[in-house]
Amino acid sequence: MKILSIETSCDETGISVLEGIENTLHVRGNSLATQMELHAQYGGVFPAMAKRAHAEKFVPLLTETLTQAGMLVSEPHEIPAAVQDEVRSICTHEQELAEQLITFAQTHAVPDIEQIAVTSGPGLEPALWVGVNAAKALGLLWNKPVYPINHMEGHIVSALLQATDDKTYTITEFAYPALTLLVSGGHTELVLIDAPLSYKKIGKTVDDAVGEAFDKVARMLDLPYPGGPKISALAAEARANNLILDFTLPRPMIHADNYNFSYSGLKTAVLYLIRDLKEKKPDALQDDNLKKMISREFEEAAIEVLVSKTACAISEYGIRTLIVGGGVAGNTYLREQLQIKIAEKFDIPVLLPGKGLSTDNSIMIGMALYYQLLHRGIPDHEKTAGAFRADGNLSI
Ligand code: KG4
Ligand code: ZN
Repeated sequence: MKILSIETSCDETGISVLEGIENTLHVRGNSLATQMELHAQYGGVFPAMAKRAHAEKFVPLLTETLTQAGMLVSEPHEIPAAVQDEVRSICTHEQELAEQLITFAQTHAVPDIEQIAVTSGPGLEPALWVGVNAAKALGLLWNKPVYPINHMEGHIVSALLQATDDKTYTITEFAYPALTLLVSGGHTELVLIDAPLSYKKIGKTVDDAVGEAFDKVARMLDLPYPGGPKISALAAEARANNLILDFTLPRPMIHADNYNFSYSGLKTAVLYLIRDLKEKKPDALQDDNLKKMISREFEEAAIEVLVSKTACAISEYGIRTLIVGGGVAGNTYLREQLQIKIAEKFDIPVLLPGKGLSTDNSIMIGMALYYQLLHRGIPDHEKTAGAFRADGNLSI
């Protein structure tokens, strides 16, 4: 089963060619372009710029991925005028991309893939539309079915990929019921999985996502976007040097009788703390040790809530596997705490995404389709191809 997968939900453009053979996923080609530097100056992702950057990068990345997969074959052929017009109408708001895709299809052989998988949501809608429209256009030009993939399902299944080398993954089997902790820049959720592909959300953030809180606190500390990894590095230095802040930040909703989260209050508490420190000493933040201590206290507060709520859900639902996904799953301190407070305490496996798979990428999107095909078989083409929209608020 060969799949071309596409991810454009936020600030990473990803295109992969994957081949699933039973419980193994082979990466035949993979390319990822990040817009991080583009957005760094704004301290967050700027949707209109993200959309333009995805559209500009799309065909170069497609070329790169197909080259890696040995599927880029020059072969001039005519595309009927009616098909060209339909591509132009699918990509109404991306006319340059439409022309590039038509030219690409006219000059290259149809690649040896069977399906196209594309993130249809959740995410930034203008960004999502670029991937969705390009996928639909390619589906038409190549006569291949196109399947919409939920980005969060991609983050879930990314943790099932166990690397055997840098291009081959074994798909991990796991015991049910399983629980997923999804932690990214846009989401903080606990999702119950009691059978393959059966997802039930039991809790989510009522305001900011945990990754968003990392990014916002990083900004307050004058650290560049995206702040998660930088806060984490400073916090680790504080721990290594035994630097402890003489102030305790709140652990919002840690004792609430539900599985919801809240990160806006924690973020505001950091804001007030910094304001008070600056009132006493205007150049307080020039002190690197102080930044390290604030990072440490913030990281520990943010992660303590995640781990504590996850542990409660594991007890209540008799969970036999914990799956963790999303950008914050790359956080070293979270990984350590999950090992101590979940894996060892409950004696259950904690599945975490490997290198390069926790933040946004297109391997997880192709994997989500392959996983669906393994468990549900090939869906009716007519029901999926073309008949879906980008949906910024899509839920699991
Ligand atoms: O999953 P992702 O790439 O994009 C979304 O779907 O949101 O997650 C990105 C988020 C950002 O907020 C980033 O700061 C955070 O994940 N992040 C981290 C770490 N690496 C990425 N947060 C804390 N520690 C990290 N090591
Ligand atoms: Zn994501």
